[in-house]
Amino acid sequence: MKQHRTFMLAIACALGAMSGASNARPLEIKLPQETASYKPSTLPGYNLTQQNCMICHSAQYVSTQPSTSTRAYWDATVKKMKKPFGAPLKDEDIPAIVDYLVKTYGAEQPLTNAAVSK
Ligand code: HEC
Repeated sequence: MKQHRTFMLAIACALGAMSGASNARPLEIKLPQETASYKPSTLPGYNLTQQNCMICHSAQYVSTQPSTSTRAYWDATVKKMKKPFGAPLKDEDIPAIVDYLVKTYGAEQPLTNAAVSK
């Protein structure tokens, strides 16, 4: 009987130590690289893109286009989102959105070390 109680105590201690240890461990969550939202920018098209281009899909489609994509490509793509896809875009907002996209994701990105070493 005495032996049994000691055993139960040992289990209780072990459980206590285990839960204590897992509580003390800092929570580590590794998030995947952010591709779902648009890259922040001071260009006027950034806000317009956020307002108009998140309605149907995330920024994933944009961020996976080739970085060599030209202004004409982005212009055609944005116009395609309006018609036939049905994005509620104002025609006067399209040039600013295209400008943001080509300078942030396309062929008119500023040269960085990363871009040069590609
Ligand atoms: C009305 C819904 C809608 C809105 C709003 C919308 N898209 Fe799309 N987008 C789509 C659909 C549908 C596809 C095609 C998905 C597929 O092919 O699987 C697409 C695909 C894309 C692609 C992938 C390449 C391609 O040509 O198919 C890009 C890039 C893109 N959208 C950019 C944008 C941008 C930039 C905006 C804001 C100007 C935008 N989208 C707003 C519906 C929309």
